[in-house]
Amino acid sequence: MKDRLKDRIALVTGASSGIGEATALALAEQGGKVAIAARRKDRLEQLAAKLADLGAEPLVLAADLTREAEAQRIVRETEARYGRLDILVNNAGVMYLEPVAEADLGRWRSMLELNVLSLIASTQAALGGMRARREGHVVNVSSVAGRVANPMAAAYAATKFGVVGFSESLRREVYKDNIRVSVIEPGMVDTELRQHVAHEASQRAVNVRAGEMRQLQAEDIADAILFCVTRPDYVCINEVLMRPTDQER
Ligand SMILES: NC(=O)c1ccc[n+]([C@@H]2O[C@H](COP(=O)([O-])OP(=O)(O)OC[C@H]3O[C@@H](n4cnc5c(N)ncnc54)[C@H](OP(=O)(O)O)[C@@H]3O)[C@@H](O)[C@H]2O)c1
Repeated sequence: MKDRLKDRIALVTGASSGIGEATALALAEQGGKVAIAARRKDRLEQLAAKLADLGAEPLVLAADLTREAEAQRIVRETEARYGRLDILVNNAGVMYLEPVAEADLGRWRSMLELNVLSLIASTQAALGGMRARREGHVVNVSSVAGRVANPMAAAYAATKFGVVGFSESLRREVYKDNIRVSVIEPGMVDTELRQHVAHEASQRAVNVRAGEMRQLQAEDIADAILFCVTRPDYVCINEVLMRPTDQER
């Protein structure tokens, strides 16, 4: 079935690769109009060409979302271009794995800024319009690491547990405004995410772990997000926790 999102307006952060890219395409294939945000403008423009072919009238938003003002700006620009924002997919994120004793706190600060504070800022910016129209959907991408804490992942887990807590509090604040909140918690997905782990032993460990299983694909997560945003408006999927079949923890 096509056109389940006909003329719905979505903003996907972290759309230059991985889960965000697959999600933007999945929303566009269902007739959505899609704004896409990340730092790598060249990658966004390549995706925009595909989205345009699907009729999604894409808006490319190059932004460093570690900066709160940028997270607010991309929401404002989306609303200015299309007149409203129906679906906000807060997906941009990094995973800096390293043991607490050796951690680079500057790196961890930037992870907290992106994974948590930016997600809060874009959500806050979107609420005004959603409340006024009495509809909207916020989809926050957390992780299994937002439910299960592992060594080397202390700060990553802090960000993703944070997203889970934020999302549930938010849901309880806005459900009476007919705004839905869904949190997505993937296990190991085959994307670029692990390439950015700077601590060598941690990167080795996570790559070994990934090699031991059939990982999820970005499209599997996009499918789950699509499922959430295409339910009838009295149905709110609060949470989707999904692991590869082969992943124990
Ligand atoms: N892969 C997994 O195993 C897995 C599991 C659970 C949860 N997740 C979560 O899924 C989300 C997407 O990750 P992914 O797996 O698809 O990895 P990915 O391919 O590395 O995608 C991350 C996205 O975030 C963007 N991003 C990073 N830093 C940014 C910044 N400062 N400002 C704006 N955008 C920024 C990247 O774009 P630019 O570099 O162009 O800015 C990219 O588009 C993340 O929140 C991640 O924590 C992933």
